[in-house]
Amino acid sequence: MNETIKTMVNHRTIRKFTDQKLTDDQIQQIIQAASFGSTSSYLMAYSIIGVTDPEKKAALASISGQPYIEKNSHFLLFCADFHRHMIEASDDEKAIISENVSSTENLLIATVDATIAAQNAALAAESMGLGICYIGSIRRDMDKVDQLMKLPEHVIPLFGIAIGYPDDNPEQKPRLPQKAFYFENEYANDQIQAEQLAIFDQKIEEYYLSRSTNKRTDHWTKQVIENLKKPRGARLTPYLQEKKFNKK
Ligand SMILES: Cc1cc2nc3c(=O)[nH]c(=O)nc-3n(C[C@H](O)[C@H](O)[C@H](O)COP(=O)(O)O)c2cc1C
Repeated sequence: MNETIKTMVNHRTIRKFTDQKLTDDQIQQIIQAASFGSTSSYLMAYSIIGVTDPEKKAALASISGQPYIEKNSHFLLFCADFHRHMIEASDDEKAIISENVSSTENLLIATVDATIAAQNAALAAESMGLGICYIGSIRRDMDKVDQLMKLPEHVIPLFGIAIGYPDDNPEQKPRLPQKAFYFENEYANDQIQAEQLAIFDQKIEEYYLSRSTNKRTDHWTKQVIENLKKPRGARLTPYLQEKKFNKK
């Protein structure tokens, strides 16, 4: 296994960081790594906002419910972005582009672009011995994040990544067995998947009982059913449409 793959398969989310700050050089390298992710049609339909203002960090910590964002991490906010693409367009062109980028396809394009850039950034950080935590819970109040970051039309916040020096060494969370999610030539039938899920539930039960914090008896299948039974994102569609995304 080469060093890159070792870094990937050693991943665990870090939610506790030391006070040590990232250097400008580290931040620059992480952003450079992000920028070289593949990008659909060379659109680079995303922006990254590095948040250093203590008041804004405090607000993001409060919105997301993740207190360590405030003091002990460098915070990167990843946004889907079709704003810059219109800056050099004429008014007529802007109207056409605005109409077209409001498709679901273009929402997916920008979201996938931003996610690829983010995972490059995450991996770059982890390869430097830093820890990361993706923060999707900033979407609990997208309007507030939008306002704090002064996001124009056609720019929406997707998620953040908190990066810092790890002050924790959590057990690694197991992943699904490969046969449960990697199929050849066609989607696997439910019986094959159910067998794999039973194997995984057993593994997950052992993981939750053996880990050093927050021990409990749990199965992955039960956990995800409970999770997905909760409705989510009621404000998302109206917000997206106000920002001229996902209108058709
Ligand atoms: C898009 C995305 C959003 C996430 N948002 C949060 C979050 O808001 N808070 C949090 O504590 N972890 C968050 N996570 C981290 C996941 O909980 C974590 O990756 C998952 O439980 C697997 O654990 P691991 O990364 O340690 O393997 C997020 C992960 C992703 C990919």
